[in-house]
Amino acid sequence: STPTASPAPTTQPAPPPVPELFGWESAADPYPAYAWLREHSPVHRTQLPSGVEAWLVTRYADARQALAEQRLSKDPGHHSEGGAHGKGKVGIPGERSANLMTHLLNIDPPDHTRLRRLVSKAFTPRRVAEFEPRVRELADQLIDAIVERQQDQAGPAAAGGGRTYEADLIHEFAFPLPIYAICDMLGVPAEDQDDFRDWAGMMIRHGGGPRGGVGRAVKKMRGYLAELIHRKRLDPGDDLISGLIRASDHGEHLSENEAAAMAFILLFAGFETTVNLIGNGTYALLRHPEQRTRLHEAAVRGDDGLLATAVEELLRYDGPVELATWRFATEPLELGGQRIAAGDPVLVVLASADRDPAKFDHPDVLDLGRRDNQHLGYGHGIHYCLGAPLARLEGQIALGTLFRRLPGLQLAAAPEDLRWRGGLIMRGLRTLPVTFT
Ligand code: HEM
Repeated sequence: STPTASPAPTTQPAPPPVPELFGWESAADPYPAYAWLREHSPVHRTQLPSGVEAWLVTRYADARQALAEQRLSKDPGHHSEGGAHGKGKVGIPGERSANLMTHLLNIDPPDHTRLRRLVSKAFTPRRVAEFEPRVRELADQLIDAIVERQQDQAGPAAAGGGRTYEADLIHEFAFPLPIYAICDMLGVPAEDQDDFRDWAGMMIRHGGGPRGGVGRAVKKMRGYLAELIHRKRLDPGDDLISGLIRASDHGEHLSENEAAAMAFILLFAGFETTVNLIGNGTYALLRHPEQRTRLHEAAVRGDDGLLATAVEELLRYDGPVELATWRFATEPLELGGQRIAAGDPVLVVLASADRDPAKFDHPDVLDLGRRDNQHLGYGHGIHYCLGAPLARLEGQIALGTLFRRLPGLQLAAAPEDLRWRGGLIMRGLRTLPVTFT
């Protein structure tokens, strides 16, 4: 036998424990755990609460690369756990219909290219710009309703006094604004919009949880949209649904199913995100008094430049989409020094990438005037948010109107008492209790 030197005693310290990623505490403030991952395990394999194993990509450079990586497919059929099984756990909550699953966020080129080109013909920056007065009107109406309700409750004696009022800004402002806006834009008649608001409410209240309601709400919305599309085909208007039906590219059109899936994804991708932009954004402003004063002053003097950089910074600082939607490796690849196997799910943590000190100076500081802010809050590459112009418009008008009209706004709960909605992809508050004078 060959003599071997006895191994040197291992003096290496034990690696620090991986922080809890999906628990209660991390919902309130996931950023310390992401800082840990960026430092110690930037491309990190973990088991999600659903039981699915996935890679989390946490550094800015890797995140940007992953978002544009062609070997990362959006088609859940590539999931190693198998298409059908995978879909239940990785798709839109409550959505099991093959028809509606075929939408932009679930497909790759060339289908993606064809559908995105067609929808881009109808959902144009010009259509969004023309919509601005309507969004202003909606924002003002919602604030009017909040103020009137308070004055009714307080009675005439209190009007004008130094009384303090209460409201839940998610329920009364952040939630209704985007849903009415997208309904209007799509061409849902006014008398049906409250049904939409209720279905949308079911979908977001229950998030991806197992409790009922979501499936039913999705089904009702789907049925309604199919019928609306049918009606608009016979009697077109100048709304977005009629635009989707009319859109053509080299003689190609959207089929009725494709138009329904498209309308659904516009709603689905466009409403909870915007609720969270207004909710998370307001919350961040209320916790940073000097930045909030800055926004208030900009809103009063109509400084659109500052409102624009403010919305981008709020997206970076605590954006609506915590993790980009699912991606699956079609073949083995390396990412941030890790080997990803074919079929592995990959989740790009936008919230972490946008706090990466390798990309942003003082990433944990909220600076509404931040220049050259190349955040990934709207994604990157071919799936870059199609609704970004509408989201920007709604965000700027919502926050501008809110802080201009309710200057005495204060948070009415301790941060540790606020509840965040569950769900893997989105990040948003259930309620945002405030007081104002
Ligand atoms: C895609 C964020 C509002 C429609 C995306 C993606 C992100 C995002 C991160 C890419 C996901 C990925 O690559 O996995 C946001 C944020 C919003 C917002 C932060 C609000 C502040 C909207 C609105 C609409 C919309 C208002 C439409 C009315 C879409 C669509 C896609 C998308 C259709 C899929 C595009 C594609 O796959 O080609 N969004 N979004 N979004 N978004 Fe948005």
